[in-house]
Amino acid sequence: MKIVFATNNKHKLHEIRKITAGKIEILSLSDIHCREEIPETGTTLEENALLKAQFIKDTFGFDCFADDTGLEVDALDGVPGVYSSRYAGEACDPQDNMDKLLHELQGKRDRKARFRTVIALLLNGEKRLFEGEIKGRIIEEKRGTAGFGYDPVFLPDGYNKTFAELGDDEKNKISHRAIATRKLVEFLLSN
Ligand code: IMP
Repeated sequence: MKIVFATNNKHKLHEIRKITAGKIEILSLSDIHCREEIPETGTTLEENALLKAQFIKDTFGFDCFADDTGLEVDALDGVPGVYSSRYAGEACDPQDNMDKLLHELQGKRDRKARFRTVIALLLNGEKRLFEGEIKGRIIEEKRGTAGFGYDPVFLPDGYNKTFAELGDDEKNKISHRAIATRKLVEFLLSN
């Protein structure tokens, strides 16, 4: 089986190719020569993941899957959520996003949050969604240097290290994305 993963993120590709080696061939956007800007105009993770997968199907004709992830913070009614990558503005970096988050949560006792990943799959004319989430809390200051995005401020439940202190190997066993990816791979391998 051959399927497109609507991403050029090397880490995501490496992770899924490792699990599916010899069974499913995963093509990236550059493998199919997609240089277009894929729309991410949805207001939910589900909508954005589907938009991306549908764009590839409509434009290139391939069966495809796409993912979208957000950090949902209880005390902020689920914000930044679908806007996680540009929480502090269009031209912001992860440090700006974390600084804004810590600022918004200043003085708040409820620090509960979760990372949630949705993967949308378009296969043989059918649509399916796979979800993974990990619960935790936002600590008061950044800790650790591994990972990316909000990792230095996210403490997963049951751990005393942030995602950025755990390191990639440990994080990738328990993460939101790993959970959603396992569900997707299980489905693909059973079809
Ligand atoms: P994407 O949908 O995977 O591109 O993720 C959107 C945004 O969510 C990223 O730009 C990060 O800000 C944040 N994010 C996603 N996954 C993670 C993670 O595993 N750790 C920290 N931040 C993440």
